Amino acid sequence: MAPDARQRLTILLRSSAIQRRVRQMAARITRDFRGQHVHLIGVLNGASIFLSDLIRQIPLEVSLDFMAVSSYGLSDRSSGEVRVTKDLDTSIEGLNVILVEDILDTGFTINYLQRLLLQRHPRALRVAVLLDKAGGRVQPVKVHYVGFRIPNRFVVGYGLDCAGRYRNLKDVCVLSLPEDAAPRGARRRGRSSALRAR
Ligand code: PRP
Repeated sequence: MAPDARQRLTILLRSSAIQRRVRQMAARITRDFRGQHVHLIGVLNGASIFLSDLIRQIPLEVSLDFMAVSSYGLSDRSSGEVRVTKDLDTSIEGLNVILVEDILDTGFTINYLQRLLLQRHPRALRVAVLLDKAGGRVQPVKVHYVGFRIPNRFVVGYGLDCAGRYRNLKDVCVLSLPEDAAPRGARRRGRSSALRAR
């Protein structure tokens, strides 16, 4: 996909490396929950691509649900206030839950969701995240399965967007663009419009 004239895409993680790592993560999950049922919860929209690859590499009994969240705040950093815009369809009580995210940045989203889900009494709650941008962390978060630790750059592809674009790239790419070329709303944290140093 060609970027806008003033945007530049540089590959950070190739598709082959991502697929290899997803297989490793799935193998680890499979070992950890051998003989058990696991319930994956994907956080829309970005995690959908990672989740769909991950789930097909886990040869256990697996079920699936999704949540969607949004964040308040008009700055380019998250305000830390998260609200659920689509809740789970089914109860997670007594289940081995794995929360699946594409990227961990400030930590606000996962921190909020972990606290919310724990109130629903799962048997276990673990977090799988493809990309960990530790340099962006504001809120400490415990994650159990991490794909790649990445630098503090804005990345797109493999589910990650800039103003709704680039989710379908097979590679994870760094998107560079001049300050004044940011799409409308893109400096604001928010689903499908974020342009954080992701
Ligand atoms: C991304 C990602 C996480 C969140 C992590 O979502 O999917 O939900 O940001 O950031 P945090 O650690 O700073 O809370 P995004 O807002 O880009 O929406 P999207 O999933 O629809 O792309």
